[in-house]
Amino acid sequence: MDRIRIVGGERLNGTIPISGAKNAALPLMIASLLTRETLTLNNIPRLADVTLLARILGNHGIDVTIAGKKAGQRTSDGQTFRLTAPDIVDTTAPYEMVARMRASFWVLAPLVARCGRAKVSLPGGCAIGTRPVDMHLTTLEALGAEIELEGGYVIARAPRGLTGNRIALSKVSVGATHNALMAAVLARGETVIENAAREPEVADVANCLVKMGARIEGIGSATLWVQGRETLHSAEHTVLPDRIETGTYAMAVAMTGGEVFLDGARGDLLQDALQLLRSTGVEIEEKPTGIKVARNGGGLSAVSVETQPFPGFPTDLQAQLIALMCIANGTSTVRETIFENRFMHVQELARLGARIDLKGDTALVTGVSGLRGAQVMATDLRASVSLIIAGLAAQGETMIGRVYHLDRGFERIEEKLGKCGARIERLSS
Ligand code: UD1
Repeated sequence: MDRIRIVGGERLNGTIPISGAKNAALPLMIASLLTRETLTLNNIPRLADVTLLARILGNHGIDVTIAGKKAGQRTSDGQTFRLTAPDIVDTTAPYEMVARMRASFWVLAPLVARCGRAKVSLPGGCAIGTRPVDMHLTTLEALGAEIELEGGYVIARAPRGLTGNRIALSKVSVGATHNALMAAVLARGETVIENAAREPEVADVANCLVKMGARIEGIGSATLWVQGRETLHSAEHTVLPDRIETGTYAMAVAMTGGEVFLDGARGDLLQDALQLLRSTGVEIEEKPTGIKVARNGGGLSAVSVETQPFPGFPTDLQAQLIALMCIANGTSTVRETIFENRFMHVQELARLGARIDLKGDTALVTGVSGLRGAQVMATDLRASVSLIIAGLAAQGETMIGRVYHLDRGFERIEEKLGKCGARIERLSS
């Protein structure tokens, strides 16, 4: 199993290219199930989750081709995928595949919408709380599907197709919103989705669906109106930049000091997170082609924050923020409101010398004058990267085990950080 070795204490200086967003790329690839024609997606990141999803989609009958390198293209540029599914040959998504990546459960809605049936294993993915799928199922039921649970599988049937309806989501859910949208675009008549997630990745998928011929209004807002169509058609779409990768590298620079240009990053995708970083004392300058992040000498201020759906502070940056606050002046309060049990990084950060008290859903982080390297273990995707950025700022050597979590969501992280002066290497075994 690969490990990552970091010798901390180096400042970061240079440019980091920001990849396409994993959380948009995955549902966009899944949207290709909705049409017989080709969906071309640009700026797809090179990630283990993308490779796994391509295999899962292949199993349903989608041809996935990856375009070759073009003249002038840099290795940091994303890939172009062409996904074509003239016929869906298999409407079952087996346990072995879905258990490895939660988002692959999202094939359920497009399969039912297009084929009138689907059998999809209940999901696995990151070990961060129970993560139920009840809203995915009630949404499909509201559109007329019959749902049964059998042997760990969801079996959905809508032999006469889906019919539009009003869907009021009881909680803001990114996955359930994707699911409702992908079902509604091929349902008969109008669907109204209330309390929809406003995350930029949801809007990105909705914009792509519109290019495919879907009729959707209210994109980016909490209410989406969808007028169903009989079929969708080919389209080309470019995946938006990854705001979680952006926020993570911004916090890395905040931890180590230095000055880095996050090439391709968009500040408007970060909203509260960018403001919060500014309030810690980090210099952030939004430019037309990216974001400059700098901390030269000054100390970091403690913050008080809770995770919230977009535009609030994202749960996917909570672990990284806690790492950052480990070296701030004073005590920070970080409350996790989206997922229970999303504090597995806390005990690992403590191994690096962090002082963190957990009280229910809240972490009280008291800044220390410096962290010290240690051997630590990655537990989930975002927790792993919090250990990386803490290791960059810690004195001495940090060895991080189980880094396969990292490869699910961060493209070439050692290379991107190494080019900015970090002493980081992957040890394969
Ligand atoms: C997506 C993101 C993940 C991010 C999360 C919250 C992808 C691939 N993953 O995950 O990185 O951390 O949004 O921004 O885009 N819930 C229910 N019932 C359901 C569905 C969800 O109770 O049927 C709950 C969840 O347990 C959680 C909350 O709703 O408490 C939000 O989860 P959700 O937005 O659905 O997360 P994902 O879409 O799985």
